[in-house]
Amino acid sequence: MTATKGLEGIVATTSSISSIIDGVLTYRGIDIDDLAEHASFEEVVYLLWYGKLPNKSELEQLHRELSESASVADSVIQQIKLYPKDTNSMAALRSAVSALALYDSEANDMSTEANLRKAVRLQAQLPTVIAAFARIRAGQEPIAPKANVSVAYNFLYMLTGQEPEAIAVEALNKALVLHADHELNASTFAARVTVATLSDIYSGVTSAIGALKGPLHGGANEAVMAMLEEIGTASNVEAYITEKLANKEKIMGFGHRVYKNGDPRAKHLQKMSKELGKITGNMNWYDMSIKIEELVTGQKGLKPNVDFYSASVYTSLEIPRDLFTPIFAISRVSGWTAHILEQYENNRLIRPRAEYTGPVNQKYVPIESR
Ligand code: ACO
Repeated sequence: MTATKGLEGIVATTSSISSIIDGVLTYRGIDIDDLAEHASFEEVVYLLWYGKLPNKSELEQLHRELSESASVADSVIQQIKLYPKDTNSMAALRSAVSALALYDSEANDMSTEANLRKAVRLQAQLPTVIAAFARIRAGQEPIAPKANVSVAYNFLYMLTGQEPEAIAVEALNKALVLHADHELNASTFAARVTVATLSDIYSGVTSAIGALKGPLHGGANEAVMAMLEEIGTASNVEAYITEKLANKEKIMGFGHRVYKNGDPRAKHLQKMSKELGKITGNMNWYDMSIKIEELVTGQKGLKPNVDFYSASVYTSLEIPRDLFTPIFAISRVSGWTAHILEQYENNRLIRPRAEYTGPVNQKYVPIESR
């Protein structure tokens, strides 16, 4: 038995949800470029769950269901109020999502219909939980979700209490579309491993949030912004990046396990980052990002991934840095739940082997002789 470090190149399951073939990402066979240009996030959610784009009435029904399910149990809001004010935002999300299960009477109902209803509730309630957490820690009361608006609109509204501008909703919608699913990424794999034991959907999503939190995965978008803030201005980029690369340090938001010639999602966010920079009159984050890309690609051959330009996009939307990864979760919960449903449909316990590298032929030594 020989281990493959990081399971690189290992095909661990079949799936009909999303594919990465020759560097092209599709959801249910539709190119991400097409979806990024034209689709609403809700259409993508439907596509991932049901395998086809919704017609008008199907989309309206999903909007209605998401709208009706967006309020979070008051007990969960009360719990969030007890979290320490400096709680890490992904830890807060992980805890709150786990708590949501306690107040869902269908939490342990394993029927497909109940699981689909729980998928709707999770999709609808993650934005509410994150916005509530952000407001509570700032000493403000949470804002109840608004009816009949999109997920992107509602999140921005619940965060600020103000009607968001159309361009902000458009930018967030695009980011949500681009982050919704990504084949067998680490968090999706974690979700599938958890539910393959026939554990419940909340356990699967809680596992996934834990995996997404790390800076090698979803946590990279926050790390990118921390780097941009540390660099400060475009004229400091060259010295900073050259030193990091010389020290063999990783530049967050670059590289990818699967894409070696570039992440097809990055260009959409780059475009949006530029557009928002022009609108806000602050091109600093975009200019720095472009310079970083030139240097990292030039010196290391590494291309930006989805996290790189999402950092400047969210900053232009005035979203606090530590909510970037939770926003990733707002989007990816659609993919996680699609994969969980797919796993249940054709389940087998996921239980690989390990190549043993420890000592052999050891004997138990009584404690007094050690
Ligand atoms: N900056 C500098 N060097 C890098 C970077 C980077 N961002 N990424 C990879 N490399 C180098 C590694 O140091 C290594 O060099 P070496 O062969 O000289 O040791 C080589 O490229 C291969 O890198 P690995 O880390 O082995 O690649 P792996 O496939 O295991 O990791 C990963 C992929 C985790 C994405 C990596 O590129 C990375 O850490 N990037 C930064 C974090 C990041 O942006 N994560 C988000 C990924 S996208 C997402 O999850 C949504």
